[in-house]
Amino acid sequence: MTDRALGRQQAHAALDFFEDQHPPAGDFLRDALDGFAATPKRVPPVYFYDAKGSGLFDQITDLEEYYVTRTELSILDSIMPELAERAGPGAVVVEPGSGSSVKIRKLLDGLDNPAGYLGLDISKTHLINAVADLAESYADVSVGAVCADFTGGLNIDHLPLPEGRRVIFFPGSTVGNFEPDAARNLLKGFRNGMRSGDAVLIGADRVKDEARLVAAYDDAEGVTAQFNLNLINRINRELDGTIDAGALKHLAIWNSEKSRIEMHLEAKRDMRFAISGEHFEMKKGERIHTENSHKFTLASFSTLAESAGFTVTKTWSDAENLFTLFWLEPCWEA
Ligand code: AVI
Repeated sequence: MTDRALGRQQAHAALDFFEDQHPPAGDFLRDALDGFAATPKRVPPVYFYDAKGSGLFDQITDLEEYYVTRTELSILDSIMPELAERAGPGAVVVEPGSGSSVKIRKLLDGLDNPAGYLGLDISKTHLINAVADLAESYADVSVGAVCADFTGGLNIDHLPLPEGRRVIFFPGSTVGNFEPDAARNLLKGFRNGMRSGDAVLIGADRVKDEARLVAAYDDAEGVTAQFNLNLINRINRELDGTIDAGALKHLAIWNSEKSRIEMHLEAKRDMRFAISGEHFEMKKGERIHTENSHKFTLASFSTLAESAGFTVTKTWSDAENLFTLFWLEPCWEA
């Protein structure tokens, strides 16, 4: 057995349970070819997150301009005692998209004797590594993992989770990367299977001054530009692409009508290239749309949550109203 396989087996062993729901792997080639054939051209943002892209995203979260992560962390810090009381003793934390270990550790450290933690992620390697680390640190917490595509709903009812109030934790304003209909479906997927007493703790980035929003997605050091261009480097590396990444310019634009920051890559000159033998052209000024990051008001996020069957029972924001954590409870029909 290779060291890597052995490491993974040991990581498995540290978990109370692991289930592979065998989510269909995204088809990068198909999505890239379809996206480049579309008008306007587009590439789905899921492809940002290979090892290089995930590393760049970690760097983004430390940037001065990217207030999102540190603001959410500071809100979490300041509300932890209240959260612990709200969740009560013996809560079970469910984290779709097992992501930032800093945030989940803050939550598990601050809650009152949490009974369980369940991480869900589409990437098995990432999931097992992240969750095995938690299992090692939290010996008194039952830690499990499910490799699944949680955007189609949480299929967790059959799992050996401890009793106790379930708190679905979805930080980072990741919900903002979904189109409004997809965001509603995502929340509906969380809502299905929730029992009375369960809740969702979800972070949402707020609408604010345009200059501040644009700077957060177009930082002075150019880390976000590298993150955006990593998509092109990936296509060149993995899909036999011949795109001159140097001929594309990173753009972050505020779309006020849709209340979102859009990331694009714009051709600085006419370009011709191939992806896996298929030929494409771009005219100077033409763009590839790579990401949407929706921003919310308290009212717009509440409307979204309500449309998915939730009631907002509490919100916590920072002093500048840059970011808000929402506590959502399932709304029961009378
Ligand atoms: C992961 N997601 C919440 C980030 C965001 O702010 O929309 C992704 C990101 N894209 C550029 N910078 C950060």
